[in-house]
Amino acid sequence: VEDPRIAKIAKAIRVIPDFPKPGILFQDITTLLLDTKAFRDTIDLFVERYRGKDITVVAGIEARGFIFGPPIALAIGAKFVPMRKPKKLPGEVISEEYSLEYGTDKIEMHVGAVEAGERALVIDDLIATGGTLCAAIRLLERVGVDVVECACVIELHGLKGRERLGDKPLFVLVNAA
Ligand code: PRP
Repeated sequence: VEDPRIAKIAKAIRVIPDFPKPGILFQDITTLLLDTKAFRDTIDLFVERYRGKDITVVAGIEARGFIFGPPIALAIGAKFVPMRKPKKLPGEVISEEYSLEYGTDKIEMHVGAVEAGERALVIDDLIATGGTLCAAIRLLERVGVDVVECACVIELHGLKGRERLGDKPLFVLVNAA
C-alpha cells in the first residue's frame, strides 16, 4: 500500500504543458514548495528511508537537487555536495559528460569534496532519460565513492531512465507518464 502522503505530494506538483517547448509536459515542483505540509512530507519520506544507512554524502544535482538535497543531508547527518553545470564551481573540478537529445552537457564536482570509500545518495527532482543521474554516478564512482542509491521526487517512467541506471537502485515518490 502506498504511503498516504504520496498522493498529496503528487497533487502539489503542477504540470505545465508545452514548457520549455511544444509537446513537453513540464513537472513544476515550485508549487510543491508552496505547500508546507507536502514539502515537509517529501523531505520526511526521504529521511525515513536514508536515516541510519551510513550515508556520508548527499550529492544534489543542479538546479532542483539543490532544493531537496540539503534538508535531507542535515537530517541524516551527511554532508551536501553540489553537482553543478559547467564553469560554476570556482575550485578545481572533475567533470563528466552526458548526451542530450542534441549534443552533450556536463556536470562538475569539486575535487576534494568527497573521499574514496564514502557512501553517497544522489538526489534530483526528476529522472527523465536518466542521463544526468548516470553522469553523477560515474563522477562519484571515478573518485571511489560508493553510490548507494539515487532518489528523485518524480520519475517520467515512459522515458526508461530507470533502465539506463542498470542495477543502481532508484527510489522515487511520484510516477508520471
Ligand atoms: C532536468 C531535471 C534533471 C534532468 C533530468 O533538469 O531537473 O536534472 O533534467 O533529465 P534526464 O534524466 O533526461 O537527464 P534541467 O535539464 O531542466 O536543468 P535545470 O535543473 O538546470 O533547469
